Amino acid sequence: MSRIECADNLEVLRNLPDGSVDLIYTDPPFGTGKRQRLDTIRTGTGDGVRLGFGGREYPFEVVGSMEYRDDLPFEQYLGFIEARLREMHRVLKPEGSLYLHLDHHAVHYVRVMLDVIFGADRFLNEIIWAYDYGGRHRDRWPRKHDSILWYAKGDRWTFNRDEIDRIPYMAPGLVGPEKAARGKLPTDVWWMTIVPTNSAERTGYPTQKPLSLASRIIAASSNTGDLVADFFCGSGTVGLAAQELGREYLLVDINPEAIEIATRRLG
Ligand SMILES: C[S@@+](CC[C@H](N)C(=O)[O-])C[C@H]1O[C@@H](n2cnc3c(N)ncnc32)[C@H](O)[C@@H]1O
Repeated sequence: MSRIECADNLEVLRNLPDGSVDLIYTDPPFGTGKRQRLDTIRTGTGDGVRLGFGGREYPFEVVGSMEYRDDLPFEQYLGFIEARLREMHRVLKPEGSLYLHLDHHAVHYVRVMLDVIFGADRFLNEIIWAYDYGGRHRDRWPRKHDSILWYAKGDRWTFNRDEIDRIPYMAPGLVGPEKAARGKLPTDVWWMTIVPTNSAERTGYPTQKPLSLASRIIAASSNTGDLVADFFCGSGTVGLAAQELGREYLLVDINPEAIEIATRRLG
């Protein structure tokens, strides 16, 4: 059943039957109005100069780059997202749920949209994914979090509390050694690093999300054998997490470079 498709996701969604997907975790363009581009660089040679630790300078050259477009005018962006969210709601099973990954550009508009499509009473959480990487504003608090909106289709949904990875207590001394060793369940604020630039996980695809983030969502909100879909799959992170956890996956992206990477990652 698992498959990867290179297509406009609206076409794929329109061809899916009602109530056929258990879980959607998807990370669409954020409505930034820009092209999202990531250069792959090689250090040691080239005309570029990078500032490293202790102010040391390193030569570098760009050896590859990938991009996808997120440059729709904002009004059009909202229409683009709404058409797809309506279809995502339709294809979810009655006990299915949607995790939608956004940031400060559009999350407030899209939350109202989801209240209309799913019903405000189907809102479960706004998960804050907090990280600390990259440039810092000098004139305001650095923006270092994304928002993941979680909505259920019906009045029952999957939440496997015991399958969730546990995290260290902030003050382990206050809870006793046994509890401290077990760790605690995360709240709706998740501190996780971005995919490190020099890690094996890094594919070079712009805005790639960490595997650990997708795995936490899939472990919590689906069961073995379920169908997990990502209609904006990029490098295939959701598919890889689903595969590792014994779920079926449906991945869609309009960009052939994304499909190539996702296919390679998933073997
Ligand atoms: C934020 S990226 C996803 C990154 C992904 N979560 C990862 O870990 O690599 C959004 C993706 O949506 C894709 N996309 C944009 N419009 C699309 C459409 N109409 N149909 C399918 N994919 C689309 C882009 O090509 C891009 O790969």
